Amino acid sequence: MIEVKNLHKEFKKNVKEAGLKGSVKSLFHPKTEIVQAVRNISFDVDKGEILGFIGPNGAGKSTVIKMLTGILTPTSGTCTINGRNPTVNRKSYVKEIGVVFGQRTQLWWDLPLRETYSVLKEIYEVSDEDYKRRMAFLNEVLELDGFITSPVRTLSLGQRMRADIAASLLHNPKVLFLDEPTIGLDVVVKNNIRNAIDHINKHENTTVILTTHDLEDIELLANRIVMIDKGTNVFDGTIGELKSKYGQIRELNFVVKDDEKSLDYKGHFNISDKDITVAKENGTVKVRFNSSAVAVSDMVSYTLDTVKVSDISVKDADIEEIIRRLYQHGDKEIPEK
Ligand SMILES: Nc1ncnc2c1ncn2[C@@H]1O[C@H](COP(=O)(O)OP(=O)(O)O)[C@@H](O)[C@H]1O
Ligand SMILES: [Mg+2]
Repeated sequence: MIEVKNLHKEFKKNVKEAGLKGSVKSLFHPKTEIVQAVRNISFDVDKGEILGFIGPNGAGKSTVIKMLTGILTPTSGTCTINGRNPTVNRKSYVKEIGVVFGQRTQLWWDLPLRETYSVLKEIYEVSDEDYKRRMAFLNEVLELDGFITSPVRTLSLGQRMRADIAASLLHNPKVLFLDEPTIGLDVVVKNNIRNAIDHINKHENTTVILTTHDLEDIELLANRIVMIDKGTNVFDGTIGELKSKYGQIRELNFVVKDDEKSLDYKGHFNISDKDITVAKENGTVKVRFNSSAVAVSDMVSYTLDTVKVSDISVKDADIEEIIRRLYQHGDKEIPEK
């Protein structure tokens, strides 16, 4: 369905020396610098898949989305969607895709939402019958009724995002690109949007590429993750594979009856900061550690030998923890299984 091969994108950036003198100088002798936003990215997406496309800020995610949607042309490499090149025959290509950039709206600021949708209906050449059915469906999952007559500029962020997502789905696209669709939203709206994504994926078999910082979005929606950093691929696989590859992080919670001060995990096990974090709070000690550096059983016996414990629970690493560590260290510092 989607094939991305060795995608590169460079930007030319004007650099200015400091101060007024620098400004004048750069006016006459502009200096440019090349920014390698995307270095060598490849991945495939199957029809009907929801791909979580993640990575730290500045990794190149939005640039890749812009190339896939035909807004930017790759410096080199190729991407094809449904066998098509996004920059060729754009007018018919945009009918096959839906795009939402969470950071800015694609709606007309002064038009009431309802009018906006009528205009989009004409642009995308949606038949009256399809339009009616589609609007009824979008109304139901995204609850647009309460503000459909309001001008876009008066909508709250959550309403605006729902409106934007509805706009991107009006023409029943085969592929939906969502770049940070839940950014800055409260839990209720987030759930609303997640349900909508899940719904169109299940009912229309829409392929979805989802960029997000909210890892709950990923856990709830994505079948697969592609992670990039500094413009290159870091991981490509299922959440299960991510967990089994990097998931030696365990969390133990001890409810401690007496003074927890005598617990000194780092000193006792001689373990470095990157392999352990300890939080002591209200009689509970939470220890997160790399179980290939210290065995879970050793961690438990040391704790039981040192303090009186009334309860213990063990948790596997959640993907949030794994990804946070990957973002911080790059994958090399976390030992392979
Ligand atoms: N139009 C542009 N001109 C120059 N540099 C850009 C431009 N767009 C993005 N970049 C740079 O490319 C890199 C990747 O940006 P982006 O794709 O927005 O990352 P992400 O969406 O993962 O946060 C960043 O270093 C960013 O500053
Ligand atoms: Mg971005």
